Amino acid sequence: MSPSPIGIFDSGLGGLSVLREVRALLPHERLLYLADSRYAPYGDKPQAFVQARTLQACEWLAAQGCKALVVACNTATAHGIQALRERLPLPIVGVEPGLKPAVAASRSKVVGVLATANTLASDKFARLLHSLEDQCRFVCQPGGGLVARIEQGDVDGPLVRERLQTCLAPMLDAGADTLVLGCTHYPFLSETVRDLIGERMTLIDTGVAVARQLQRKLAEHGLAADAETGVDPGANPIAVARYCTTSDAEHLRGMARALLHVDAAAETVVIEPAPIAP
Ligand code: DGL
Repeated sequence: MSPSPIGIFDSGLGGLSVLREVRALLPHERLLYLADSRYAPYGDKPQAFVQARTLQACEWLAAQGCKALVVACNTATAHGIQALRERLPLPIVGVEPGLKPAVAASRSKVVGVLATANTLASDKFARLLHSLEDQCRFVCQPGGGLVARIEQGDVDGPLVRERLQTCLAPMLDAGADTLVLGCTHYPFLSETVRDLIGERMTLIDTGVAVARQLQRKLAEHGLAADAETGVDPGANPIAVARYCTTSDAEHLRGMARALLHVDAAAETVVIEPAPIAP
């Protein structure tokens, strides 16, 4: 019998950067990815919309039989994870900008944080920032426009470069030596960031830490799949991961190929109605 999958949710394609790390660490787990690309980006939508849509999407994943969920979106975690934990009786792992590892990595004790406007405006982020402010100075910049470009498959075009330059300049001017990629879409910009700033900043991406946290939660709940009970990682990728989107399946398939080098089946799913017009 096929093991129950782990649901991985993002507003769009960014969660694929988390899925990549989950697959590397937990190769026997079956995965079900859901991109709400029809409504991406979430980063500048009303917060009530983000919360309600996160609930709808994760309820859909739970209804598909997922044994655990990863909210692979900083914005959705910031505004929706509390309500989600109250609603769904499943192990749920969220993501947050990697400020703690950044403080540990920084020598200049000036850290740049690139995240969506909604993440930066959240109470959850304010609490995290406040808990570390005595150890480090943080220069936060909203990466408005970047998620929309990445959703189109653009990770290094002129608009992306221009936007990144605008965000990174005040960080470098302030002496930042570490950059938190506080949105799961941004790891796909790492090469472009490197191209623009060389080695001047250490990049912090929390994908590996999230995969480890998931591993711990699965073990804690006795839900982990192993070589005997789980999938064969050498098998056809279609059997290992199912990729779903609320938008165009062919686009998701193409992006999974471009960003993850996997040839997977993708399908369009309908999760309606949206709670509030965005
Ligand atoms: N990947 C989401 C995050 O980590 C992107 C948010 C958006 O859709 O703007 O915040």
